[in-house]
Amino acid sequence: MATENGVDVLDMVSEGCRLPVLMTNSDEQSSSQSFKAIAEVLSRKDGHGSPRFYVHYIDFNKRLDEWVTPDRLDLEKLQFPKKDNKTPVKEGKSISSRASTPEKEIPFQNGGMGGGMGGMSSMGGMGSMGGMGMMKTKSNAGRKRKVPIDSEDSQDSLPPQSLVAANNVPPKGPRQTGSLVDKTHDDVVTRMKNIEMIELGRHRIRPWYFSPYPVELTKCSVIYLCEFCLKYMKSVKCLERHRAKCIFRHPPGNEIYRKATISFFEIDGRKNKVYSQNLCLLAKLFLDHKTLYYDTDPFLFYVMTEFDSRGYHIVGYFSKEKESTEDYNVACILTLPPYQRKGYGKLLIEFSYLLSKFEGKTGSPEKPLSDLGLLSYRSYWSQAILEILVDLKDENGERPQMTINEICEMTSVRKEDVISTLQHLNLINYYKGQYIVTLCKEIVDSHERVMSKRKIRIDPKSLHWQPKDWSKRGKW
Ligand code: ACO
Ligand code: ZN
Repeated sequence: MATENGVDVLDMVSEGCRLPVLMTNSDEQSSSQSFKAIAEVLSRKDGHGSPRFYVHYIDFNKRLDEWVTPDRLDLEKLQFPKKDNKTPVKEGKSISSRASTPEKEIPFQNGGMGGGMGGMSSMGGMGSMGGMGMMKTKSNAGRKRKVPIDSEDSQDSLPPQSLVAANNVPPKGPRQTGSLVDKTHDDVVTRMKNIEMIELGRHRIRPWYFSPYPVELTKCSVIYLCEFCLKYMKSVKCLERHRAKCIFRHPPGNEIYRKATISFFEIDGRKNKVYSQNLCLLAKLFLDHKTLYYDTDPFLFYVMTEFDSRGYHIVGYFSKEKESTEDYNVACILTLPPYQRKGYGKLLIEFSYLLSKFEGKTGSPEKPLSDLGLLSYRSYWSQAILEILVDLKDENGERPQMTINEICEMTSVRKEDVISTLQHLNLINYYKGQYIVTLCKEIVDSHERVMSKRKIRIDPKSLHWQPKDWSKRGKW
């Protein structure tokens, strides 16, 4: 399609432009075969044949960002970036600003490639809640990488990107909180997914976000991970060679929980540095805005596995600071995509609160939560609180009494989270000068329905663990 002055419109589509793009991987797509959403072009690749565009759908989470072919673009509604808002320059590279407002629409006389705007609306999707929480660390400026577990494999000649990027070291000085927000990571490179596919055990998984794997690996169509030690490799041959000598059939560290096929391993980020770093690299593929640092010393990692005759297969994990000034009991939490939406996330959360209970504390996840993190925590908190409330019995014919603090003590959920959950469920009422919680039959019925579906639960009796007082130790 040509403009009035004869320029091909497709040639004009560049970084920062916005236009409707046909989505093929959103939930909306299942209800409408031709769902288009406004997207910003983050990058353009001109190779052989027609160009490809890396787009971010404005009202959707970044995990849906993707490369698209021109036939999916609605060029009729092409908007160019505002000049004054454009391209902050960093290290000689231009960065398109996602916040930039398009300047104008270019009207076309001839029909565009993408057809009309039918079905397009400004969706208030889940994307806007994507968090800025960082993987946490102590200052590691100038720290050298320790010798990896196995010095022969390909991984060792390919250090992860941040290890070699001098300007990526976190600020010096003590950590005030667990989080470090590092804006230098939100550049044109890290905004785009860099790994096409990973193979982990019997799963092929398409990553959601950027992770600083070595640049050499970003050229591979698939990268191969040892599912037990999480070492990354560039080919199936390397993986086979590695498998023949890898001694692991489970994560390192101590198995602190086992019930049926589910186990939890506690891994000290200082004692098992290479494994912890590999776990962080893997996790970053599915965690947005988590900047990866390589000082894993201040963290413990709790890896959940499912056992079969071949070994203990990683399902998910959460990390936890050894000492948290804010009493966070989870830093980052992840269920690997093939296992998601099956209740494992809630199992990880339940386990994190059981650890807090053993510590005699209440805890809360590090803020802000991601969209899926918030949904999962909301659901967990609601069920944990309702489980207690629906079990309360009348006392001598009187209404049962319970304080918020008692709920916190029983669930190990922090007070603010208990209150926000009760408010979210709309259970708090003001009655005769005091706040009371009212449970209607519908709430109780729906709670019982969802709990009957929650088949796997954490059994406190299967935890063999003593909390450590890290503040009393000279060194983590
Ligand atoms: N769409 C809608 N609801 C969802 C979705 C989804 N894609 N995924 C989870 N939920 C909700 C559901 O409400 C579910 O509750 P329900 O049983 O009442 O329907 C609840 O979350 C928990 O579902 P699970 O199956 O137990 O959780 P899952 O194993 O899918 O894990 C998790 C949840 C860990 C958040 C997972 O989605 C994930 O790893 N996401 C990527 C990483 C991430 O965002 N982590 C949280 C960051 S915040 C932080 O780290 C502190
Ligand atoms: Zn291995």
